[in-house]
Order: sequence, then structure tokens, then C-alpha cells
Amino acid sequence: MQYAAWKGATLSEEKKVNDGDVVKDIGYRDQPLSETEISEMKSREEWNIKNPANEVTLVKNLRETELVPREYRNTSARFMKLTGERRLQPHLSELPPLGRSVNHRHTTEAVIYIIKGSGYSTIGYDGEVEQRVEWEEGDLFGIPLWAWHQHINTSETETVRYLAVQDTFMIKALGLHQIERHPRQ
Ligand SMILES: [Fe+2]
Repeated sequence: MQYAAWKGATLSEEKKVNDGDVVKDIGYRDQPLSETEISEMKSREEWNIKNPANEVTLVKNLRETELVPREYRNTSARFMKLTGERRLQPHLSELPPLGRSVNHRHTTEAVIYIIKGSGYSTIGYDGEVEQRVEWEEGDLFGIPLWAWHQHINTSETETVRYLAVQDTFMIKALGLHQIERHPRQ
């Protein structure tokens, strides 16, 4: 079978390539949201519609970039889609003084760079002893796949700001994107 150049094809459209050959265009499909009781996908989707990712080439000065409240996580945040990125998505998050993010897990991997502030994260799998990772400005650490984690700002006066880079676009394209919040917060 020969594949023609399908300029302007719409999703799910049936294409006649050669006489007798009818194929379905395979394109990106939205993934159904998880229906587990502890899924965070619905809150995330609603927030993302209200606060779409900034599609940009360069983000200047991450310390000062303006963020918007991300209520369902107890943080402020900004998501970005950098030019041409098909796999990785960065976002900035900020915790208020003594703030604690929601304890959650996701099917994306994450690396986190602390832009300012200090505190710690708890990281662990069900049935295992939770790890406590202390961090401060300039530090880098990782969150393993599907591990529960929570970020805590230990300062009474200063905010914490971090950059997280995750393989969100790729995991979404594979139909594997899930986020859950821990029953205990
Ligand atoms: Fe996370």
C-alpha cells in the first residue's frame, strides 16, 4: 500500500489511497480521563483550559515570571510549551511560606530544579518507607514514575519556586497520562 501525502487531513477521516485501498488516518486522540476516585485529571483539565500553556521560544528570568493560582494543588504555576517540543513539558510552580503541595503521583517522570527557597519533598511508593529529600536554591532532584510525592516549603517568610520538566506530551500521546492524589493529605 502506498501512503499519499494527506495534506489537510482531519482526524478519523477515511482516505482512499489507491483503488480499493481505504485507510483510516491515525492522528492524536484525546485520552479519556481516568475515572478512579482519586484521579486529579479532571481538575487538571479544567485548570489547563482556563490557563493554557504559553507557547514560546524563550522564557526570561524564571525567578520573576508571573504565575497564576493553581488551587487544586495549593500552588501557583505557569505551564509552557517551548518551540517544537513534542515530548517534554516544563512548568514553574511556587509554594507560599509554609505551603504544602498536594501529595500526588503521576505517570510522567519529573526533574525538579529549585529556583529559590528551601524545604523538602517526601517521595515514596505504597508499602515502602517514605524518603525525605531536603533541598534549597540551586538543587536538582528527580521524582520516579508513579511515586507519591509532596513538596513542603519550610520557610515562614519566603516563597519556594521550582522548575519541573516532565515527559507529559509524550506520555499523553501514548495515552498513558494519569495523575492521582493520595487519600491522605
Ligand atoms: Fe508531581
